[in-house]
Amino acid sequence: MMFSILLTTVFASLTLAAPSLKSGCDVSHVVIPLPAGQTQLVAPTTTTPRFIGIAAGVQNYTCAATGTYTNVGAVAEIFDVSCLDPGLFVKATDIVSSVWEKAPKGVTPQKVIKDLAVIGSPIVLGQHYFITNPITGTGLSPKWDFTSASLAGHPDAFVVGARTGDLPSPTDPTENIDWLSLDGVQGNLADQIFRIETRKGQPPSSCTPGTPDISVRYASQYWFFGGSF
Ligand SMILES: *[C@@H]1O[C@H](CO)[C@@H](O)[C@H](O)[C@H]1NC(C)=O
Repeated sequence: MMFSILLTTVFASLTLAAPSLKSGCDVSHVVIPLPAGQTQLVAPTTTTPRFIGIAAGVQNYTCAATGTYTNVGAVAEIFDVSCLDPGLFVKATDIVSSVWEKAPKGVTPQKVIKDLAVIGSPIVLGQHYFITNPITGTGLSPKWDFTSASLAGHPDAFVVGARTGDLPSPTDPTENIDWLSLDGVQGNLADQIFRIETRKGQPPSSCTPGTPDISVRYASQYWFFGGSF
């Protein structure tokens, strides 16, 4: 109850701005807002954005023998913001982050996104999770998978990524996870993926070896360039 009220309140401003949020709008002309004065993340010049989503999810960490947390994957739900005014992307990310941060313990990202229906009908693009690295057979690789959601019926509507660039978050890098670029190494969903405008997701700075794994809630934008959809 309290949670729904919160959602309705925080979305009031976006509701005014986007009375009938749709999905599947053309974003090929939208420019990715990468920070100036850095060389880690480079906007693609030969492909254009095809999907832009905001994600709510968790980053998982295990406590290493050195007493610091190591990332062991993530799970997130990504919804479509292609029809939102790009000038509202940052605000929308802030709102999703604050709603997700404040959500009671048992609430899933799916529920948060479903409740975002107060701004229209948020369309779930797909899911982000980790799989065994398909090239080397060991270690974990990030995957973005739209085959169970917006691109059901297209078995190749996924992409497995390999990191090409890593920029500490321009704001609060101890709280907010890094901004990344990745090349698609499998699947036809995208040639390149960017994770930007991250909110939270960093683990505590130290841990006691032997303690259980932790999951830290985060939100971010994911931009998908190229691909064949
Ligand atoms: C991350 O943790 C969540 C529980 O918080 C779990 O559902 C998920 O399977 C975990 N994923 C990975 C890749 O460890």
